[in-house]
Amino acid sequence: MDTNQAETVSNQDTTTPGQEQWTAVDRYITDHLVPRDEVLEEALEANALAGLPSIDVAPNQGKLLYLLALMKGAKRILEVGTLGGYSTIWLARALPANGRLVTLELEPKHAEVARGNLERAREAEKVDIRVGAALDLLVALHEEGAEPFDLIFIDADKKRIPAYLEWSMKLAREGTLIVVDNVVREGELINAESEDPDVQGVRAMFEMVAAEPRLSATAIQTVGSKKWDGFAMAVVVG
Ligand code: SAH
Ligand code: DHB
Ligand code: MG
Repeated sequence: MDTNQAETVSNQDTTTPGQEQWTAVDRYITDHLVPRDEVLEEALEANALAGLPSIDVAPNQGKLLYLLALMKGAKRILEVGTLGGYSTIWLARALPANGRLVTLELEPKHAEVARGNLERAREAEKVDIRVGAALDLLVALHEEGAEPFDLIFIDADKKRIPAYLEWSMKLAREGTLIVVDNVVREGELINAESEDPDVQGVRAMFEMVAAEPRLSATAIQTVGSKKWDGFAMAVVVG
């Protein structure tokens, strides 16, 4: 069954939960477990005001990133794809006062909005926003001998995920956690015929991880306010 067929079936079958229920359940989860936070809400408002797309992680996903960074005791975090810094604020909050987060963003306007949001969140001092093509910036980080990162969050253009993963591994150490967002894309992940370079990028990442003994990995599908998607997680084991 192709994904278009699946979508048609679920839309006609009122007993099958869909977007409305996923969003309602996300709201329930967030109402209970993710306390209201003016700084984060203002960041999303500032993003909307500046015309940024609302493709930030959902609040409960941001909290997951925060918890993962806490679990790792992360002192150095790398993020690929800043947008308005919503996920950046979540991650930065898990860092100790002397922790460091480097986040890479192609669009100067996104970086500017992120800077404002991080300042309002009082996290700007921990965060180094670098503007440019992420691949160039990853190479530059490697060339300047950057200390290894404890957690790396890959969330930029999906077609380059394999390249970002390759360079991330050079910026990692044994034990580094690498999280990749948006790896399911409403099921397009399993469409081997897809001509979408983003889907091809995600699929190439799975092939790469499968063949890489230095990584131990899994991926989890998610539904919620950000539709049907998922994330991959890999730990550097060697
Ligand atoms: N992590 C953010 C969302 C990032 S959206 C959050 O959850 O809040 C993806 C971002 O990647 C966009 O801001 C986009 O401009 C940026 N991007 C796209 N291509 C890029 C590239 N080649 N290098 C760096 N950033 C890129
Ligand atoms: C897109 C990018 C994201 O990082 C995301 O979480 C959702 C969508 C996109 O480019 O469409
Ligand atoms: Mg994303």
